[in-house]
Amino acid sequence: MTSRTLPTGGLRLVFLGPPGAGKGTQAQFLIEELGIPQISTGDMLRAAKKEGTLPADVAAIMAAGGLVPDAFVVSLIEERLKNPDCANGFLLDGFPRTAAQADSLDAMLARHKHKLDAALALSVARELLVERAVLRRTDKRTGQIYHLKYKPPPPGAEVEHRADDREEVVCKRLDTYEQMTSELLPYYEKRGILKRIDGVGDVEDVRRRVLEALPY
Ligand code: AP5
Repeated sequence: MTSRTLPTGGLRLVFLGPPGAGKGTQAQFLIEELGIPQISTGDMLRAAKKEGTLPADVAAIMAAGGLVPDAFVVSLIEERLKNPDCANGFLLDGFPRTAAQADSLDAMLARHKHKLDAALALSVARELLVERAVLRRTDKRTGQIYHLKYKPPPPGAEVEHRADDREEVVCKRLDTYEQMTSELLPYYEKRGILKRIDGVGDVEDVRRRVLEALPY
């Protein structure tokens, strides 16, 4: 059940922020509020791995906390955005992650006379990010995100611990974010569509800030 009417022409958003910042958690609220699909490259890559269709070299990069090649994720997104459920917009979560991916996205959208409406960037201090990722658990069936300290799974829930949520891999992912993905903040700031959001505090408080940052 959506509670906000989309602007004419739809709404195209990207969610930026380091690993563990709360992008997935907040995306679950936003898609309910807006009725647009969440498209997470991380989820798509993990699903391909479960199905056995992810090339072994790509799986190894993910397991080590690096970024998979731009061409690989760009083609995943290009296919996904053709789906009719994207006609009125989408929330990209975890894509783009490099300036080259951002350029490819702009080009894809321009072909359909569309453009991004906002880049929502969650910021959280590094010490909190490590704790958030290491103690994260995900419901195997529904994908619901839990945290052993802040949002414990209900009794009986069948949860899994992501392979890349071990502390040493989380630290590597944070380094990768700082080296490769943080360059997207000035990229979108220059275009005047960057919305910086404080991601520290209760999930509900962050949710309110995210809703206030929407560009309409
Ligand atoms: P991906 O799956 O995208 O992971 P990520 O960006 O590292 O982000 P996370 O899923 O770890 O964190 P999140 O911000 O969604 O946090 P969450 O809401 O779960 O990518 C995984 C890998 O895939 C990459 O390392 C790379 O190898 C590859 N990849 C993916 N996309 C790619 C691309 N475009 N290019 C190249 N490679 C790509 O929250 C975390 C925890 O904190 C949860 O337990 C949650 O309950 C808790 N929490 C959330 N909010 C709060 C709060 N306010 N207070 C307390 N706890 C909170």
